[in-house]
Amino acid sequence: MNSIKNLVRRLLGKKSKSLSARNAYNLIASSYDQKPNQIIPKLDQFLVEELLKEDPGDIANSFDYGAGTGRNIPLLSSLSSDSVYAYDISIEMLNILKAKFPQTILVSAKNRFDLSIATNSIDLILCNLCIGYVKDIESLFAEWDRVLSKQGMIILTDIHVDLLANGNRNFDINGSTIYIDHFLHEEKTFHALFSKFNWEISQFQEMKVDENVKSIFEQKLDSYSALEGKKMLFGYKLKKN
Ligand SMILES: C[S@@+](CC[C@H](N)C(=O)[O-])C[C@H]1O[C@@H](n2cnc3c(N)ncnc32)[C@H](O)[C@@H]1O
Repeated sequence: MNSIKNLVRRLLGKKSKSLSARNAYNLIASSYDQKPNQIIPKLDQFLVEELLKEDPGDIANSFDYGAGTGRNIPLLSSLSSDSVYAYDISIEMLNILKAKFPQTILVSAKNRFDLSIATNSIDLILCNLCIGYVKDIESLFAEWDRVLSKQGMIILTDIHVDLLANGNRNFDINGSTIYIDHFLHEEKTFHALFSKFNWEISQFQEMKVDENVKSIFEQKLDSYSALEGKKMLFGYKLKKN
Protein backbone atom coordinates (compact mmCIF):
# COMPACT_ATOMS: atom_id res chain seq x y z
CA MET A 1 0.00 0.00 0.00
CA ASN A 2 2.75 2.42 0.94
CA SER A 3 4.66 1.54 -2.18
CA ILE A 4 1.66 2.51 -4.36
CA LYS A 5 1.33 5.80 -2.44
CA ASN A 6 5.04 6.45 -2.93
CA LEU A 7 4.83 5.62 -6.61
CA VAL A 8 1.86 7.99 -7.06
CA ARG A 9 3.77 10.70 -5.22
CA ARG A 10 6.88 10.12 -7.33
CA LEU A 11 4.95 10.14 -10.61
CA LEU A 12 2.96 13.21 -9.66
CA GLY A 13 6.10 15.09 -8.70
CA LYS A 14 5.82 18.47 -7.08
CA LYS A 15 4.28 20.53 -9.84
CA SER A 16 1.61 18.51 -11.63
CA LYS A 17 -1.64 17.57 -9.94
CA SER A 18 -2.60 14.71 -12.21
CA LEU A 19 -1.07 11.83 -14.14
CA SER A 20 -1.05 11.19 -17.88
CA ALA A 21 -3.55 8.48 -18.88
CA ARG A 22 -0.66 6.15 -19.76
CA ASN A 23 1.02 6.47 -16.35
CA ALA A 24 -2.29 6.39 -14.49
CA TYR A 25 -3.63 3.25 -16.15
CA ASN A 26 -0.29 1.47 -15.89
CA LEU A 27 -0.64 2.03 -12.15
CA ILE A 28 -4.36 1.20 -11.99
CA ALA A 29 -4.18 -1.93 -14.20
CA SER A 30 -3.70 -4.59 -11.51
CA SER A 31 -6.71 -3.37 -9.50
CA TYR A 32 -8.97 -2.37 -12.43
CA ASP A 33 -10.88 -5.66 -12.52
CA GLN A 34 -11.21 -5.82 -8.73
CA LYS A 35 -13.99 -3.21 -8.65
CA PRO A 36 -16.94 -5.06 -10.18
CA ASN A 37 -19.67 -2.90 -8.62
CA GLN A 38 -18.73 0.47 -10.04
CA ILE A 39 -21.68 2.36 -11.45
CA ILE A 40 -20.15 4.09 -14.51
CA PRO A 41 -18.80 0.90 -16.18
CA LYS A 42 -22.12 -0.84 -15.55
CA LEU A 43 -24.09 2.04 -17.04
CA ASP A 44 -21.69 2.07 -19.97
CA GLN A 45 -22.11 -1.66 -20.55
CA PHE A 46 -25.88 -1.11 -20.67
CA LEU A 47 -25.46 1.74 -23.17
CA VAL A 48 -23.04 -0.17 -25.44
CA GLU A 49 -25.42 -3.13 -25.54
CA GLU A 50 -28.35 -0.80 -26.33
CA LEU A 51 -26.42 0.75 -29.23
CA LEU A 52 -25.54 -2.67 -30.60
CA LYS A 53 -29.01 -4.16 -30.08
CA GLU A 54 -30.41 -3.41 -33.50
CA ASP A 55 -28.92 -5.65 -36.16
CA PRO A 56 -25.23 -4.68 -36.25
CA GLY A 57 -24.83 -6.32 -39.71
CA ASP A 58 -22.06 -8.66 -40.81
CA ILE A 59 -18.92 -8.11 -38.79
CA ALA A 60 -15.76 -9.98 -39.73
CA ASN A 61 -13.22 -7.89 -37.81
CA SER A 62 -13.84 -5.61 -34.85
CA PHE A 63 -11.49 -3.26 -33.05
CA ASP A 64 -11.63 -2.13 -29.41
CA TYR A 65 -9.82 1.24 -29.08
CA GLY A 66 -8.92 1.96 -25.44
CA ALA A 67 -9.76 -1.67 -24.67
CA GLY A 68 -8.33 -1.64 -21.15
CA THR A 69 -8.32 -5.07 -19.53
CA GLY A 70 -10.82 -6.33 -22.11
CA ARG A 71 -14.24 -5.79 -20.58
CA ASN A 72 -15.83 -5.78 -24.03
CA ILE A 73 -13.74 -8.46 -25.73
CA PRO A 74 -16.34 -11.23 -25.08
CA LEU A 75 -19.07 -9.04 -26.62
CA LEU A 76 -16.94 -8.21 -29.67
CA SER A 77 -15.92 -11.86 -30.06
CA SER A 78 -19.58 -12.89 -30.07
CA LEU A 79 -20.29 -10.39 -32.87
CA SER A 80 -17.20 -10.97 -35.05
CA SER A 81 -16.80 -13.91 -37.42
CA ASP A 82 -13.05 -13.36 -37.84
CA SER A 83 -10.78 -11.41 -35.45
CA VAL A 84 -10.95 -8.95 -32.58
CA TYR A 85 -8.20 -6.31 -32.46
CA ALA A 86 -7.38 -4.24 -29.38
CA TYR A 87 -5.30 -1.15 -28.71
CA ASP A 88 -4.63 0.72 -25.48
CA ILE A 89 -2.10 3.35 -24.49
CA SER A 90 -1.35 1.40 -21.30
CA ILE A 91 0.79 -1.69 -21.78
CA GLU A 92 -0.14 -2.93 -18.29
CA MET A 93 -3.87 -2.88 -19.15
CA LEU A 94 -3.13 -4.73 -22.40
CA ASN A 95 -1.00 -7.36 -20.62
CA ILE A 96 -4.02 -8.25 -18.49
CA LEU A 97 -6.30 -8.28 -21.54
CA LYS A 98 -3.94 -10.64 -23.40
CA ALA A 99 -3.70 -13.00 -20.41
CA LYS A 100 -7.52 -13.17 -20.21
CA PHE A 101 -8.22 -13.31 -23.96
CA PRO A 102 -5.13 -14.70 -25.73
CA GLN A 103 -6.87 -14.87 -29.11
CA THR A 104 -7.14 -11.05 -29.28
CA ILE A 105 -4.80 -9.37 -31.78
CA LEU A 106 -2.90 -6.59 -30.04
CA VAL A 107 -2.36 -3.51 -32.21
CA SER A 108 0.73 -1.34 -31.99
CA ALA A 109 0.88 2.33 -32.91
CA LYS A 110 3.74 4.15 -34.59
CA ASN A 111 3.72 7.95 -34.45
CA ARG A 112 0.72 8.09 -32.07
CA PHE A 113 -2.15 7.37 -34.46
CA ASP A 114 -0.52 5.18 -37.10
CA LEU A 115 -2.12 1.86 -36.10
CA SER A 116 -0.82 -1.53 -37.28
CA ILE A 117 -4.13 -2.42 -38.95
CA ALA A 118 -4.77 -2.79 -42.70
CA THR A 119 -6.78 -0.10 -44.50
CA ASN A 120 -10.57 -0.74 -44.78
CA SER A 121 -10.29 -3.97 -42.78
CA ILE A 122 -12.42 -3.27 -39.68
CA ASP A 123 -16.22 -3.48 -39.65
CA LEU A 124 -16.83 -2.27 -36.10
CA ILE A 125 -14.80 0.09 -33.93
CA LEU A 126 -15.76 0.31 -30.27
CA CYS A 127 -14.35 3.10 -28.12
CA ASN A 128 -15.95 3.28 -24.70
CA LEU A 129 -14.97 5.41 -21.69
CA CYS A 130 -11.77 6.49 -23.44
CA ILE A 131 -12.22 9.38 -25.91
CA GLY A 132 -12.04 12.00 -23.13
CA TYR A 133 -8.41 11.00 -22.59
CA VAL A 134 -7.50 11.74 -26.21
CA LYS A 135 -6.46 15.33 -26.96
CA ASP A 136 -6.21 15.25 -30.75
CA ILE A 137 -9.43 13.47 -31.66
CA GLU A 138 -9.29 14.70 -35.26
CA SER A 139 -6.08 12.75 -35.97
CA LEU A 140 -7.51 9.72 -34.20
CA PHE A 141 -10.74 9.86 -36.22
CA ALA A 142 -8.70 10.15 -39.45
CA GLU A 143 -6.94 6.91 -38.52
CA TRP A 144 -10.24 5.19 -37.64
CA ASP A 145 -11.58 6.33 -41.01
CA ARG A 146 -8.62 4.72 -42.74
CA VAL A 147 -8.98 1.32 -41.05
CA LEU A 148 -12.81 1.20 -41.20
CA SER A 149 -14.47 -0.68 -44.06
CA LYS A 150 -17.12 1.02 -46.21
CA GLN A 151 -20.42 1.00 -44.27
CA GLY A 152 -18.36 0.15 -41.17
CA MET A 153 -19.74 1.11 -37.76
CA ILE A 154 -18.36 3.04 -34.80
CA ILE A 155 -19.74 2.84 -31.26
CA LEU A 156 -18.42 5.76 -29.24
CA THR A 157 -19.39 6.30 -25.61
CA ASP A 158 -17.99 8.29 -22.72
CA ILE A 159 -18.82 10.24 -19.59
CA HIS A 160 -21.20 13.10 -20.34
CA VAL A 161 -19.65 16.53 -20.58
CA ASP A 162 -22.24 17.84 -18.03
CA LEU A 163 -20.80 15.47 -15.44
CA LEU A 164 -17.19 16.37 -16.22
CA ALA A 165 -17.53 20.12 -16.75
CA ASN A 166 -16.34 21.11 -13.27
CA GLY A 167 -14.91 17.82 -12.24
CA ASN A 168 -12.15 15.40 -12.93
CA ARG A 169 -11.54 11.78 -13.82
CA ASN A 170 -10.07 9.83 -10.99
CA PHE A 171 -9.57 6.38 -9.58
CA ASP A 172 -9.14 5.26 -5.97
CA ILE A 173 -6.39 2.78 -5.43
CA ASN A 174 -5.22 1.53 -2.03
CA GLY A 175 -6.35 4.68 -0.25
CA SER A 176 -4.85 7.06 -2.83
CA THR A 177 -6.88 8.99 -5.37
CA ILE A 178 -5.30 9.17 -8.79
CA TYR A 179 -6.40 12.13 -10.92
CA ILE A 180 -6.00 11.61 -14.65
CA ASP A 181 -5.37 14.21 -17.37
CA HIS A 182 -8.42 14.51 -19.59
CA PHE A 183 -10.01 16.74 -22.22
CA LEU A 184 -13.56 18.05 -22.66
CA HIS A 185 -14.88 17.55 -26.18
CA GLU A 186 -18.18 19.26 -26.83
CA GLU A 187 -21.02 17.83 -28.88
CA LYS A 188 -20.51 20.43 -31.61
CA THR A 189 -16.86 19.39 -31.98
CA PHE A 190 -17.86 15.75 -32.41
CA HIS A 191 -20.56 16.67 -34.93
CA ALA A 192 -18.23 18.82 -37.02
CA LEU A 193 -15.73 15.96 -37.21
CA PHE A 194 -18.41 13.36 -38.00
CA SER A 195 -19.44 15.56 -40.94
CA LYS A 196 -15.84 16.03 -42.03
CA PHE A 197 -15.35 12.26 -42.24
CA ASN A 198 -18.83 11.69 -43.67
CA TRP A 199 -19.87 9.51 -40.74
CA GLU A 200 -23.62 9.35 -40.39
CA ILE A 201 -25.15 9.39 -36.91
CA SER A 202 -27.45 6.35 -36.81
CA GLN A 203 -28.16 6.72 -33.09
CA PHE A 204 -27.34 9.17 -30.32
CA GLN A 205 -28.18 8.62 -26.67
CA GLU A 206 -27.68 10.67 -23.55
CA MET A 207 -28.00 8.28 -20.66
CA LYS A 208 -29.78 9.77 -17.66
CA VAL A 209 -30.18 8.24 -14.24
CA ASP A 210 -33.80 7.13 -14.24
CA GLU A 211 -36.05 4.11 -13.69
CA ASN A 212 -34.57 2.35 -16.76
CA VAL A 213 -31.21 1.98 -15.01
CA LYS A 214 -32.31 1.90 -11.35
CA SER A 215 -31.47 -1.81 -11.04
CA ILE A 216 -27.81 -1.00 -11.81
CA PHE A 217 -27.63 0.99 -8.56
CA GLU A 218 -28.68 -2.07 -6.48
CA GLN A 219 -27.17 -1.43 -3.04
CA LYS A 220 -26.30 2.18 -3.88
CA LEU A 221 -29.76 3.74 -3.75
CA ASP A 222 -28.34 6.84 -2.03
CA SER A 223 -26.27 7.46 -5.14
CA TYR A 224 -29.36 6.86 -7.26
CA SER A 225 -31.30 9.57 -5.37
CA ALA A 226 -28.37 11.99 -5.57
CA LEU A 227 -27.90 11.48 -9.30
CA GLU A 228 -31.51 11.01 -10.44
CA GLY A 229 -32.20 13.01 -13.63
CA LYS A 230 -28.50 13.71 -14.30
CA LYS A 231 -26.94 12.91 -17.67
CA MET A 232 -24.15 10.41 -17.01
CA LEU A 233 -22.98 9.15 -20.39
CA PHE A 234 -23.35 9.83 -24.09
CA GLY A 235 -23.24 7.27 -26.85
CA TYR A 236 -23.08 7.41 -30.64
CA LYS A 237 -23.62 4.77 -33.25
CA LEU A 238 -22.00 6.01 -36.47
CA LYS A 239 -21.85 4.64 -39.97
CA LYS A 240 -19.10 5.32 -42.50
CA ASN A 241 -20.50 6.33 -45.89
C1 LIG B 1 -11.89 3.81 -18.17
S1 LIG B 1 -10.78 2.78 -19.04
C2 LIG B 1 -11.92 1.91 -20.12
C3 LIG B 1 -11.35 0.62 -20.60
C4 LIG B 1 -12.34 -0.29 -21.35
N1 LIG B 1 -12.85 0.36 -22.55
C5 LIG B 1 -13.47 -0.69 -20.42
O1 LIG B 1 -14.64 -0.45 -20.74
O2 LIG B 1 -13.18 -1.26 -19.37
C6 LIG B 1 -9.98 3.90 -20.17
C7 LIG B 1 -8.91 3.22 -21.00
O3 LIG B 1 -8.49 4.13 -22.02
C8 LIG B 1 -7.09 3.99 -22.17
N2 LIG B 1 -6.55 5.20 -22.82
C9 LIG B 1 -6.38 6.42 -22.29
N3 LIG B 1 -5.89 7.28 -23.19
C10 LIG B 1 -5.77 6.59 -24.34
C11 LIG B 1 -5.33 6.93 -25.65
N4 LIG B 1 -4.92 8.17 -25.96
N5 LIG B 1 -5.33 5.96 -26.58
C12 LIG B 1 -5.71 4.70 -26.27
N6 LIG B 1 -6.13 4.32 -25.06
C13 LIG B 1 -6.17 5.25 -24.10
C14 LIG B 1 -6.60 3.76 -20.77
O4 LIG B 1 -5.29 3.23 -20.72
C15 LIG B 1 -7.69 2.84 -20.21
O5 LIG B 1 -7.38 1.49 -20.43
